[in-house]
Amino acid sequence: MREKLMQLKDEALAKIAQINHEKELQDVKVEYLGKKSPITEVLRGMGQLPAEERPLMGQLVNDVRGEIEEAVKEKAEAIEEAKLNEKLATESIDVTLPGRPVHAGSTHPLTAVVEQIEEIFLGMGFKIAEGPEVETDYYNFEALNLPKEHPARDMQDSFYITEEILLRTHTSPVQVRTMEKMEGEVPVKIICPGKVFRRDDDDATHSHQFMQIEGLYVDKNISMSDLKGILLQFAREMFGEDQRIRLRPSFFPFTEPSAEVDLSCMLCKGSGCRVCKQTGWIEILGSGMVHPNVLRMSGYDPAIYTGFAFGMGVERIAMLKYGVDDIRHFYTNDSRFLKQFNRI
Ligand code: DAH
Repeated sequence: MREKLMQLKDEALAKIAQINHEKELQDVKVEYLGKKSPITEVLRGMGQLPAEERPLMGQLVNDVRGEIEEAVKEKAEAIEEAKLNEKLATESIDVTLPGRPVHAGSTHPLTAVVEQIEEIFLGMGFKIAEGPEVETDYYNFEALNLPKEHPARDMQDSFYITEEILLRTHTSPVQVRTMEKMEGEVPVKIICPGKVFRRDDDDATHSHQFMQIEGLYVDKNISMSDLKGILLQFAREMFGEDQRIRLRPSFFPFTEPSAEVDLSCMLCKGSGCRVCKQTGWIEILGSGMVHPNVLRMSGYDPAIYTGFAFGMGVERIAMLKYGVDDIRHFYTNDSRFLKQFNRI
């Protein structure tokens, strides 16, 4: 019996040594250690042995089983390791391969310019206000001293949704909304950036959707000179210390008096070029002293309070600052165009 066991052991160890696959290993394990294996049989037959031989034989069977189990375990580990090594060899990554470029987005130039303008006005104590893009006729026109049938409404061809609701044609309605909200408190010192819409045919300088920034400063004793000082400071921070501005008389229904504001041409420094049409000046915004009717309708007594207001086109400022020659570039969003603004 002892010889039989030794033989079984050698046989099992020899087989295990040959094996390269988990499945075969499993089979051999069942064959030699399973319930029906010859070794288990030996254990079962122990009852027939004389009592004094049993402990010795039991010990021997256990040793044999132990050795086979150990061999199976080692083999299993070896197979596992071989598998891992093979995987490492076949799946290795070439760390010297150049990576695929990741195209990161960037701030849209109009957003960047709005942020720059906001920074400048925040620095002068203005707050930022916003209003809806879908607006009522009242806020867009009437409360700005543009009653129905007023001829100046034609200056801003509008997208009407119903007779009383339209896409706002300018950011000026935010002036009215803010004053109403402030309920007569002063100072009202805000800028309002936002999208506006007009029924224009798109070309190099017109877009049916564009952006404006409105400004409003209402308090006691606000005068035209405050307007001039604030706008000069803005021009210098935006375009450089040597900037000059010029006010030209104009007309807007919501301001009296009204002025158009020109910047000295930042390209030719005033000597005359194509961009400034040889005049040395570039118009950038409309402005004026808030009309008494507008103040009154929004709950401010024009006998006590005065204010200035202005409205500028963001695209125009961006075009001048970055030398963009077609407003449509901001809206067609060709990535070759946008990429150039990656670092502003
Ligand atoms: N809302 C005017 C426009 O879109 C611009 C403007 C002019 C705004 C004068 C003002 C202002 O606040 O005082 O053409």
